[in-house]
Amino acid sequence: MTKTKMIIDCDTGVDDALAIAYILADPQIEVLGITATYGNIDLHSAARNSLSILELFHREDVGVYKGAEHAYDKTSYVRGNKSPLIHGENGIGNVDLGSPKKQPNKENAVDFIIDSAKRYKEDLHLVFVGPLTDLADCIRKDLEAMKLCGDITIMGGALTVKGNKSVYAEANICSDPSAAKEVFASPLHLSVIPLDATLKTLFKVSDIRSWKDLGFAGRSLYEIARFYYVHELGGEETGGAMHDPLAAYASKDPSIITNWFPCNLTVEENGRTIGSFEELNLKEKRHRVALDVDAKRFSDDYISSVSELIKRS
Ligand code: BDR
Ligand code: CA
Repeated sequence: MTKTKMIIDCDTGVDDALAIAYILADPQIEVLGITATYGNIDLHSAARNSLSILELFHREDVGVYKGAEHAYDKTSYVRGNKSPLIHGENGIGNVDLGSPKKQPNKENAVDFIIDSAKRYKEDLHLVFVGPLTDLADCIRKDLEAMKLCGDITIMGGALTVKGNKSVYAEANICSDPSAAKEVFASPLHLSVIPLDATLKTLFKVSDIRSWKDLGFAGRSLYEIARFYYVHELGGEETGGAMHDPLAAYASKDPSIITNWFPCNLTVEENGRTIGSFEELNLKEKRHRVALDVDAKRFSDDYISSVSELIKRS
């Protein structure tokens, strides 16, 4: 079996942590590294959270590489006031995993991604589940290398539903609209997983309750996820959306998306993702946008593979 070689760029956050758990769990995925960005929390805490999740599953062999500290149009990072309520003060549901033993790698995220693109070419799948500053930086630095990648998937945007940051805007795109606009205007072909699909993947506490009794790793991941499932949307009965895990899953297996809409995206001033009017008549569409998902298959696969990972840890 040829494994999908994957790098994920995270602003680690709870659903980011759940995406990391998933890519470690899936036997068809080889995790090459995790790059860190600001977003749900500051860059340094995001990197630390990723290191802690790797340690929880005894995968200290996977490196963590730091990327951008703030958005293009800002001079520093300011945490959104909803973020601690959804992801906890520490970004991982206020669960204390202690200080990770390892430090982030010396190489920065952009160089690590570009070097990997040159090395693995079409075998490399890149998944971006935070603001798009790191991806825009990679494009600015070496577009030709980025064109070699087999797949680039991003979690972001809202096409047919309202946003989660404002009525127009989704959080990842809205955190750095200038970077997102550059990314969408670039010649790269992208798979885009917006709220339209991710809001159909709501998990509840009851879906993961069995993890609680599966030792330290299970109990910790259960507590991390529980915080988010209770606080992200309408409370425990509504559950929380598996935004970032769905993006990682779709990069490995695009057939989980049951409706891909081809278009050329752009970003408006207010952070809204929308089809570019200037490119309306262009035959070639660079982006495919996920509008529907086989939520049952995703949820069954996610829970069974992460449960196996927990049992092994
Ligand atoms: C996205 O924003 C972040 O809060 C989540 O981690 C996810 O990547 C959802 O809009
Ligand atoms: Ca994220």
